Amino acid sequence: MTRIAVAAPLLLALAACGQDPNTASDAPAAPAKPARVLSDAEKAGLLASLPAPYNAGDLDNGRRAFARCRSCHTIGEGGPDMAGPNLYGVFGRKAGDRPRYNYSNAMRTATFTWDAEKLDHWLQNPRTFLPGNKMTFPGLPDATDRRDVIAFLKVETGYTPETEAPTPPAS
Ligand code: HEC
Repeated sequence: MTRIAVAAPLLLALAACGQDPNTASDAPAAPAKPARVLSDAEKAGLLASLPAPYNAGDLDNGRRAFARCRSCHTIGEGGPDMAGPNLYGVFGRKAGDRPRYNYSNAMRTATFTWDAEKLDHWLQNPRTFLPGNKMTFPGLPDATDRRDVIAFLKVETGYTPETEAPTPPAS
């Protein structure tokens, strides 16, 4: 892949940054909620608050690693599904739960919820993590790339520490 082919979708995605109404055409009628766009300082703060090892994540490397996902995934709020589903809000969401995206049976009927650990295993080897899924991606073999892309996704997809907070035990 040439550098230009990588840079163009990157710029597009940056420009969209969750605020382009044209990309929301297939999203469910959006509630009038402003897109959550973080400043660089807020991103740095969120990164620092992540549990280890993600607090040591390199967001620039994560962005670079995510270039391998961009041909199939958007991450901005209200972004369209492409070959793969939009990933905004993926942390804390049940696998295969994005409305209107045509998941494989394996993914649709999966019962787990995405967290950093699940995503790490998924990205290490999508095929063995969930047999029968339709993400034709060989995986990210490098553990540092996985750490960084997960940190990047946490910062860019609306994750907040509460998203993954365990449900308090019923009293
Ligand atoms: C060639 C296209 C393609 C590439 C490249 C790709 N994906 Fe996917 N991804 C898919 C498809 C298709 C699915 C849906 C799988 C299914 O339904 O079985 C998916 C599903 C997912 C899901 C589950 C989403 C949900 O709603 O449960 C996550 C998370 C994900 N991909 C992350 C990534 C990341 C991170 C990368 C890059 C490191 C990546 N993908 C690269 C096509 C792709």
